Amino acid sequence: MTNKYMYFIANWKMYGDLKSLNTLDKVIKFSKSYKKNKFKLIYCPPYTLLDAFSSKFKKTKLDVGAQNCHEYESYGAFTGSVNSKMIKNIGANFVIIGHSENRAQGETNLLINKKIKDALKNKLKVIFCIGETLFEKRKRKTHKILSTQIIQGLKNITNLSNVIIAYEPIWSIGTGIIPKTDTLSDEIKYIKSLTKTKLKQKSTKVLYGGSVNSRNIKDLKEISTLDGFLIGGASQDSKKFIDIVKKTFI
Ligand code: PGA
Repeated sequence: MTNKYMYFIANWKMYGDLKSLNTLDKVIKFSKSYKKNKFKLIYCPPYTLLDAFSSKFKKTKLDVGAQNCHEYESYGAFTGSVNSKMIKNIGANFVIIGHSENRAQGETNLLINKKIKDALKNKLKVIFCIGETLFEKRKRKTHKILSTQIIQGLKNITNLSNVIIAYEPIWSIGTGIIPKTDTLSDEIKYIKSLTKTKLKQKSTKVLYGGSVNSRNIKDLKEISTLDGFLIGGASQDSKKFIDIVKKTFI
């Protein structure tokens, strides 16, 4: 059982419509009634639902984030894009940046660095995703990959108090496979020590993401250095999402 302040971030990816708003009632009710521990629930729906989620969460403890943003700081001719300023304006306070599904579409560490800087400038808190592929893991390159992603992604950002790192091994996302507890614990330790030594941060929050569900949470919560979870598939079902939160604190 943990007494730590924990983050539970729901990444809805390209799922959800206006009807899905009803499923949030259960979670809002739960967050009001569950006084046992300190925690933050953040929903990151698609852009189309940001406004509706943000209105729904007014006067609740829940918060809203976007799943990505454009790096350009002002309005501009970028068809199909949304920048940090627009996200903040709609009432969101968080943004996921560097998710592997976007890195796979060509997002580089340099581009991610620009996005993070602009998001912070616009007073958004950043959920910065990092993680290695299975190929890289097998070649024992995990630390090298994580360190490059962290150092390049956070280059020239001196204050990380509004950055939460989400370690998401790519081979874990949507596969039902999670890392062994010892290995995951080592990676989290590595990330935290790197931000301390290379980026001179006293303490950085680090989450785990990749196939988190209400069954494997009992193993994941044993890693005391974790500050929470980034949850994809299981977060779309309110009951499963609530179960994950409850079981973290048992
Ligand atoms: P998953 O997704 O929980 O469905 O594996 C996590 C993520 O991609 O953030």
